[in-house]
Amino acid sequence: MPSSQPTDARGLALTGIDASAIDTYEALITDSYYYRLGVQDRLDSFLLEQPAFGLGHVFKGYSLMTDGVLASHGKAAMHLETAEALPATPRERLHQEALRAWLDQDPQARGLAWEQILAEWPLDLLAFRQHTGTLFWMGNKQHQAMVAASVASRWESDDIPGHALFLSAYSFAMEEVGHYAEAERAAKKALESQPQDLWAIHALAHVLEMQVRRKEGIALLEHSAAFLNDYNLFRGHLWWHLAMFKYAEGAFDEILELLDREIYPGTSSFYLDIQNAASMLIRLEVQGVSVGTERWERLAQASLQTAAQNTIWFTTLHHVLSLQRSGRDSAVNEALAYAEAQADSGSEQALLAAWISEAAVAYSRGESQLALDSLLTLRQDFGLLGASHVQQDIYQQIMISAAMQIDDWPRVRQLLKERKAVRIWDPASLEQFKVLARQIDEFRTIEQVNAELRQ
Ligand SMILES: [Fe+2]
Repeated sequence: MPSSQPTDARGLALTGIDASAIDTYEALITDSYYYRLGVQDRLDSFLLEQPAFGLGHVFKGYSLMTDGVLASHGKAAMHLETAEALPATPRERLHQEALRAWLDQDPQARGLAWEQILAEWPLDLLAFRQHTGTLFWMGNKQHQAMVAASVASRWESDDIPGHALFLSAYSFAMEEVGHYAEAERAAKKALESQPQDLWAIHALAHVLEMQVRRKEGIALLEHSAAFLNDYNLFRGHLWWHLAMFKYAEGAFDEILELLDREIYPGTSSFYLDIQNAASMLIRLEVQGVSVGTERWERLAQASLQTAAQNTIWFTTLHHVLSLQRSGRDSAVNEALAYAEAQADSGSEQALLAAWISEAAVAYSRGESQLALDSLLTLRQDFGLLGASHVQQDIYQQIMISAAMQIDDWPRVRQLLKERKAVRIWDPASLEQFKVLARQIDEFRTIEQVNAELRQ
């Protein structure tokens, strides 16, 4: 590398950027992973000022791909083509390979490119955050944790720029495989550097949720409420987590108020907003709460725009429920046809999403036996659509609700126990599980089941 070649804050060579612009680039990376508002507009302006900075174009491409809709792919491809025509280091070329594979819907090649980067340049924050983030939506929790653990020894010093941004993603990766103490330690350490790091707060909220530390969860998120709305749309997911803790308390009116004020106030088509709102409405309905038609209608307006171009397959179930609940059968069929077409093009996730979504539509139409039978055959594969353990609970909610509707009590009790088994992480939680399982064996009423479903 020529001695004059600029480097990022972690000493990794950059091509085509003025040395004077590196601080701006670092701020864009940092602010992006801190979910600050306006980063994409700033990045667009930055690329106009630094048009020969290939990695900057790839970063923009990554950002567009994380929109989760096909409509963003054309623009991402343009940025990639710009980058590919520019000089680049081998590391920067690997980033281009990853983005190319993403556009080609080849997640394995995408992951291999990022892993090759991390093997040689473990401090490549962009590769680490993108790789772990996409593994999450591919349902590869173990792989996500392996990637995080395999670079951790190289990130031990607090002095490494971006150290906290490593820690928050490491924390969430550890949480999703049940290493709660390590996840909590890392999240709290990240929050020492940046108390408003939404991803670290999120990882900690998951630990508290999985360990049933409800009061601490509510305290954490109510404290965060003071600044959440200074951040981008990811904030809605933290509001959702607060609502999930409230759900456990049966505070349904408060949840509806949170839903209309913070979680889904308009008609956002952002995939996470749709997941948050639809899954909460279904949970409330399972509890017997009347949520009205207006909320489903707003969600349906968004689903009409994005259901047939969605690329994050856990969302499909939420799209079709919104469309079915608002009486749009033809749009449901279009969303399912889109998923099936993507499956025909080789996406295993799309095929699974289509099957699960068909079953969810059957549930929504009151065809409970059909819905339950379908979901029972698919349930070992639910995790392949990604999402957290807490988000994936929507499948159990629907199955248990369907089993209750057909008075299949042995199945209700079995599914309730199965649902709790993911929360065993140490000898003490195993003992708690055994006690709870004996209690569930005695469940005979809807009230008992509903109370358990809130937990
Ligand atoms: Fe979450």
